[in-house]
Amino acid sequence: MDADGLLARYRELQSYVGWDADDARRVQALASPLDSFLPGLIDDFYREIQRHPAASNVITGGDRQIDRLKQSLIQWLRELLAGPYDQAYVVRRWRVGMRHVEIGLDQVYTNVALSRLRNGLIGALGRTWQGDQLSLIETIQSLDKLLDLDLAKIEDAYQAEHLERRRRDERLAAIGQIAGGVAHELRNPLNVIKTSAYYLLNARNASPEKVGEHLRRIEQHVTVADDAITALSNFAKLPHPQLIPFSLHDCLRQVLETEHLPAAIDVELDLAPGLPAALGDANQLRIVFGNLIRNARDAMSGQGRLTIRGQQLDDDVEIEFTDTGTGIPADKLLRIMEPLYSTKARGLGLGLALAKAIVDKHEGTLRVQSEWGRGSTFRVRLKAQTNEQSS
Ligand code: HEM
Repeated sequence: MDADGLLARYRELQSYVGWDADDARRVQALASPLDSFLPGLIDDFYREIQRHPAASNVITGGDRQIDRLKQSLIQWLRELLAGPYDQAYVVRRWRVGMRHVEIGLDQVYTNVALSRLRNGLIGALGRTWQGDQLSLIETIQSLDKLLDLDLAKIEDAYQAEHLERRRRDERLAAIGQIAGGVAHELRNPLNVIKTSAYYLLNARNASPEKVGEHLRRIEQHVTVADDAITALSNFAKLPHPQLIPFSLHDCLRQVLETEHLPAAIDVELDLAPGLPAALGDANQLRIVFGNLIRNARDAMSGQGRLTIRGQQLDDDVEIEFTDTGTGIPADKLLRIMEPLYSTKARGLGLGLALAKAIVDKHEGTLRVQSEWGRGSTFRVRLKAQTNEQSS
């Protein structure tokens, strides 16, 4: 917020608490009689900080910082009482909140510290007061309004700065996730390519069929890696998927072919006859299916049965992946789709989070049911192509 904006906001808050020229006059009349009490208030302020580690821990700059803090505080109190309550005053008040975010001070300590300063000021006022009781009450009320306005200003700045910092941190975390996601998605195809390249370089008397098979496998996995990069480079801001009809049968077949599940895993692909095409971005959804299939493989330690069923449910299609693996403990079930949460000894825990992000972007659902020791079922629900769309 610029200086004009800060002043406009302050004026708005002043009108809220009913601050006027009489309030200013009453408080300004205190500047001189209360001045001798201010060092005592600062000592009390600092003593209390020392008694509370969560407050004192933010003072990392030693005695010089403590001196600066005490100087800042006394200056702050003098300006509070003397005014004028103009733009320069408001801008200085705003900076306090920003400085507190910078040093990592919890805002509640400003609130409670202000409570002590308020009590100290009112106590000093009571001791020096010469006028009648009604004027004393009016003066206390004016002082209260001014302190509350100052606190509101500090809090405003604190929140704005805090929010800005959190956004920055979230952006950084998103970049980290993208980098982790790229690594996760590329490792698999790169390993296949490496194995085939090794074969081609080292196999003696390889038959032309074998050479052809490995070259095709390399080509296929270069495409898988390329698709993964395309989808993942946009993970934080996944492109809104174009809902284009695609055959679930072809898509799942392709994924199963590229995943090369071990022979000891029986795979059953059971799509209901007449299953309509799904609507979505087949490149993104291949990543979803690939992740679910790899998860099933890992949960079964290379041996068991993977059943992939597809059926129509109202205007949607649901694809169900059921494995006979270890299952997921109940306490982990709620968290497995969170980024960077993995139950595997190896693995970054991004696969399922990415799958969920992609399905969410399709306005679909990804749900899991699991029984510890018996296996898990993941269900992906997507929009189906309607009859009108296909005609
Ligand atoms: C009534 C509550 C408080 C007020 C009015 C207040 C006021 C101020 C002011 C005016 C500054 C200087 C800002 C600038 O550099 O422009 C400041 C800085 C600072 N405040 Fe507060 N403060 C309050 C509470 C606290 C509390 C409870 C702590 C606890 C440790 C604290 C720690 C600090 C520190 C460490 C600095 C930075 C000092 C420096 O490095 O120069 N403040 N505060």
